[in-house]
Amino acid sequence: MSKTRKVGFTETVLRDANQSLIATRLPYSKFEPILEDMDKAGYYSAEVWGGATFDVCLRYLQEDPWDRLRKIRAKMPNTKLQMLLRGQNILGYKHYPDDVVRKFVEHSIKNGIDIIRIFDALNDVRNLEVAIDETVKQGGHASGTICFTTSPVHTLEKNVQMVKDLQKMGVKSICIKDMAGIMGPKESYDLVSAIKDAVPELPVVIHTHCTTGLAFMTCLKGVEAGADVIDTAISPMSGGTAQPATETLAYALRSLGYQVDLDDKVLIKMADFFKGVRADFIKDGTLDPISMATDTQCLNYQIPGGMLSNLISQLKMMNAIDKLDQALAETPKVRADMGYPPLVTPTSQMVGSQAVQNVLAGERYKVVGKEIKAYCRGEYGRTPAPIDPDIQKKILGGTPVVEGRFADSLEPAFEKTKAELGATAKSDEDVLSYIAFPQVAMAFFKDREAGFPKKEEPKKAAAPAAAKEADLPPVPAWQGHVYYANVPGSVSNGVSARPIQPFAASYQPPHLVMGARDNCPGNYTITVNGQAYQVSVAVADGQAPAAVAPVAAAPVAAAPVAPAPVAAPAPVAAPAPAPAPAAAPAAGETAVKSPMPGNIFKVECKPGQAVKAGDVLVVLEAMKMEIEVSAPVDGTVKSVAATVGTAVNTDDLLVTLG
Ligand code: CO
Repeated sequence: MSKTRKVGFTETVLRDANQSLIATRLPYSKFEPILEDMDKAGYYSAEVWGGATFDVCLRYLQEDPWDRLRKIRAKMPNTKLQMLLRGQNILGYKHYPDDVVRKFVEHSIKNGIDIIRIFDALNDVRNLEVAIDETVKQGGHASGTICFTTSPVHTLEKNVQMVKDLQKMGVKSICIKDMAGIMGPKESYDLVSAIKDAVPELPVVIHTHCTTGLAFMTCLKGVEAGADVIDTAISPMSGGTAQPATETLAYALRSLGYQVDLDDKVLIKMADFFKGVRADFIKDGTLDPISMATDTQCLNYQIPGGMLSNLISQLKMMNAIDKLDQALAETPKVRADMGYPPLVTPTSQMVGSQAVQNVLAGERYKVVGKEIKAYCRGEYGRTPAPIDPDIQKKILGGTPVVEGRFADSLEPAFEKTKAELGATAKSDEDVLSYIAFPQVAMAFFKDREAGFPKKEEPKKAAAPAAAKEADLPPVPAWQGHVYYANVPGSVSNGVSARPIQPFAASYQPPHLVMGARDNCPGNYTITVNGQAYQVSVAVADGQAPAAVAPVAAAPVAAAPVAPAPVAAPAPVAAPAPAPAPAAAPAAGETAVKSPMPGNIFKVECKPGQAVKAGDVLVVLEAMKMEIEVSAPVDGTVKSVAATVGTAVNTDDLLVTLG
């Protein structure tokens, strides 16, 4: 390898470093003054958009993300602007129809993006092809991405095959994305070598994080093996959960004889500027010094740092921290059962939560989350290895598996949504913002209409939580994807660490929690006529749902479990009748009460309707999760006290069965 070879740099300070260290809270106004200088630094590209920037702009910063992109483009005419795109999921965790993916790519490029780094959590190339195809059509540079992970099935051959598939789709470069900082120098050297052998004409980019301290070595060995570009962050915003420092790697590579076309004077100016930015974020508490430190725990456990802290917090909430060793032993087993998904959001949360659930339930896959079920159906894509067939059957029961590509089953949505929004959307970009984050975008549109009234900083509002925060494990913001899901105020797609707020004193976590959009199966105690009943809700279809057993009368384990048909989704009840008095129900009636504080999300029954034990009556939204409350017994709905959109407390009456 010629030592005069040129190595390019992608500066991540405005996207990944911003996301990893300060939960993407850098507003445009704060970095605008440095953009014109940054444009002269000589970067291969600047990663400035996508990832969590979009959601956070709309949700917290009162910024239109599209407008931010246009402003950066205007200030940086000479630098290639880059974004991160989650393939068929765009910027979230669900699959969007192809027309939406295409529109999003088209408008990203129209508004100023040059390079789109496109990845899929399962490395299923079918989830990448539409985004790549549209990027190529729009004249952009598609960077095909491999999510790095280790497992018995993630061989060099498999990675090489993926790279060849990506090349056929028209990518102009290959990125190795190590979102957890667990790729070491040897893996980096071997993988880059294999890719360079297979597709020598495609530039290779290395993206990693300093979390475990390996990143500098990983980049260096990757470059030695032929990598053309490395992702780095300007020094004050580097290290820890972010990327290795730009200046350090520029210095080291030059000293080894590589050509680095960065202007040191500009880098010094940038570093001075971002020292000030960093100081401000340390001062207001957004930048936790722990994020800047090295944490080697993930190397010991071979699971990403954020996943480990999530396991710990889930177990603590369940008062079961003594089961940590069991949960850690169970985690790789669940991952193997699930066909070795890369441990990246959201699969890392799904695997970790299922491991906790398996340990706590005392029976593997007795209770599964909605997302694991969707995963087993194939809604996330093809798993790297087949899912264990027995476990898949246990989880799915009779639910059919998705054949082919999940997005093929989705109806086009862009024009339909545009028509629905009417004058609310001022542009096609608004329509895309709405499709990506409906509630958040709608709130943003309203605020924009009102001239952005001053809002209380969400962070400051959480100040009283400080004491509680100390109870929880530190937040090693793995890739900025810290995921304390059961935390009021957490970003719903799990992209940022939010301040920890105390739970209401009355709140008892019903069971472990996982991803922010996860449904919540689990066991609840519902009191009927003064008798406490254990009710388990939303168990796997393959299981007998709705075990009902009086707590005092019989041990739960011994309770007969009457298989009840899975509730056909009842139409959401039209305006609920006036709330029934919360008085004790008459003899022969059964009061179904709220198992926890929350909001009524859906009412799935109406007066006069016959229900079977296990049928879902009401869906609560609590801690950003959906909690199904089911009928404890067969009966007829006498009255419905629950009204959609209202708040309820523990033991508030929801439905009376007669
Ligand atoms: Co990253």
